[in-house]
Amino acid sequence: MNIRRNPGKLLALALLLAVTLVLWVSAGQDETEGDGAIGRKFLYETSLTWQGAIGDLFSAMPAKPPQFKKYTGARTVKLPPAEFKGLAVEEAIRRRRSARKFSDRPLKLEELSQLLWAAQGVTGERFRKLLRTAPSAGALYPFEVYVFVNNVEGLERGLYHYGVREHQLEQVKAGDFRAAVTEAGLDQDMLGAADATFALAAVIDRIRFKYGERGWRYIFMESGHISQNIYLQAASMGLGSVAVGAFLDKKLNELLGLDGVNEAAIALHAVGTL
Ligand SMILES: Cc1cc2nc3c(=O)[nH]c(=O)nc-3n(C[C@H](O)[C@H](O)[C@H](O)COP(=O)(O)O)c2cc1C
Repeated sequence: MNIRRNPGKLLALALLLAVTLVLWVSAGQDETEGDGAIGRKFLYETSLTWQGAIGDLFSAMPAKPPQFKKYTGARTVKLPPAEFKGLAVEEAIRRRRSARKFSDRPLKLEELSQLLWAAQGVTGERFRKLLRTAPSAGALYPFEVYVFVNNVEGLERGLYHYGVREHQLEQVKAGDFRAAVTEAGLDQDMLGAADATFALAAVIDRIRFKYGERGWRYIFMESGHISQNIYLQAASMGLGSVAVGAFLDKKLNELLGLDGVNEAAIALHAVGTL
């Protein structure tokens, strides 16, 4: 076939080439970039690429915040050691179910202690760094654990912060927060009905200082790890619990005394007796 003598075929070939080129280029583009939805934008902006990783080596990262938060001067409550021996892990996984109704029996301090340990307790040391029950990207541990104590034997109602190193509670504020935490959680009654409602909050730059914007993804992943530890520990002790992601961020952050920028609430988890 002599194409030069056949302009129709030449046009068809050019068209085919153009379509192939357009398809090839668009296949190489990341579809997540353009549609403007914030969730897709989040995935796009936090995607890892070699170019981005190399660029990160030369871009300024935020300063590293302190590894531990401490409410100096707060009343502290030493927690009993977490020594509970419960179900085999497979059985706890099998039995785990979200519970939203709880009995009137208060939670024992030993049970609260065990749950806090499962969430973020210290279980080891490497290169003089304390390692915890839940995994963390780069062992940077961005999470702080707070607990609204509603009905725990021998413990005044109030908001407490978990002191990881000392395995102790620091009282942030005394008071009855059952109505306030329920309201912050879109009126989900189990938040106030629970014996203890955990709030998981991330100190964002503890992970961003190393991983940049990718670190945001790690924060949400780690929240899931911590929450699952609480679920399984609760199941192992015959307690009920439920993860809660639906809450009014501003209200909850205010309740916790957090600015929502440097440190922000990421998840709630209610626990109670069955
Ligand atoms: C990230 C996340 C957020 C959730 N948020 C809520 C919530 O706001 N309210 C609620 O009642 N349950 C919530 N749940 C619990 C789910 O509804 C529950 O896990 C699901 O129905 C499956 O039931 P199961 O946990 O008993 O297996 C959440 C679970 C996850 C993992």
